Amino acid sequence: MNERNCKAPDRIETHRLMLRPPRPADAGAIFERYSSDAEVTKYLSWPRHRSIEDTRAFIGFSKAEWLKWPAGPYLVFSRAGSALLGGAGLHFETAERAETGYVLARDAWGHGYATEALWAMVKLAPQVGVRRLYALCHPEHRPSQRVLEKGGFDCEGLVHERAQLPNLAPGCKIDMLCYSRIFRTSPSEEARLDVD
Ligand SMILES: CC(C)(COP(=O)(O)OP(=O)(O)OC[C@H]1O[C@@H](n2cnc3c(N)ncnc32)[C@H](O)[C@@H]1OP(=O)(O)O)[C@@H](O)C(=O)NCCC(=O)NCCS
Repeated sequence: MNERNCKAPDRIETHRLMLRPPRPADAGAIFERYSSDAEVTKYLSWPRHRSIEDTRAFIGFSKAEWLKWPAGPYLVFSRAGSALLGGAGLHFETAERAETGYVLARDAWGHGYATEALWAMVKLAPQVGVRRLYALCHPEHRPSQRVLEKGGFDCEGLVHERAQLPNLAPGCKIDMLCYSRIFRTSPSEEARLDVD
């Protein structure tokens, strides 16, 4: 980690949402709410969870990500009812490059929650040293493309054979749209520039 890579907060609040890292006790709720749902996981890069052991493995993966990098997966809760709505997060590939994504339980679609969670990640990313934040999206997945547009991401275009979508086309590499946001300066650098 360099000096730009301070650790992300383990609790983030937005207007309607609260985000925090997954805990072992969340396994049942994650499994029931979204990770085992075939429709929810159709366009995701991880295989639908067949048993709660898959969900426990995800929570273990998440813990390792948080130990290794300044941030990792977050769960997304409603601030009003504290119900689990879904997940979001930053997946670091280098200290300055991270992928983001989001997933919501079916009954949470259509309320703008994905956009709100994505904005939380956009705000967080430069604070933890990310200069290139990107997301991959299936060309037919219009709702997710719209979420990325509303999150201020630019569409860089179609990248051939870029990802595996194991629930949609097992064993195949799929062409994906790549969206990105570039953060040219860190908040502290921006503050310095303002003073100068
Ligand atoms: C994709 C997903 C995250 C969207 O979540 P959401 O909270 O419903 O998204 P939002 O309400 O913030 O925004 C959705 C936007 O897509 C638009 N939209 C919905 N269906 C659409 C369609 N068929 N064509 C075009 N736009 C569509 C909505 O109108 C809305 O845009 P608007 O605010 O301009 O009206 C949610 O459906 C989901 O979790 N799906 C399963 C997991 C997934 O696919 N994740 C993304 C992987 S890339």
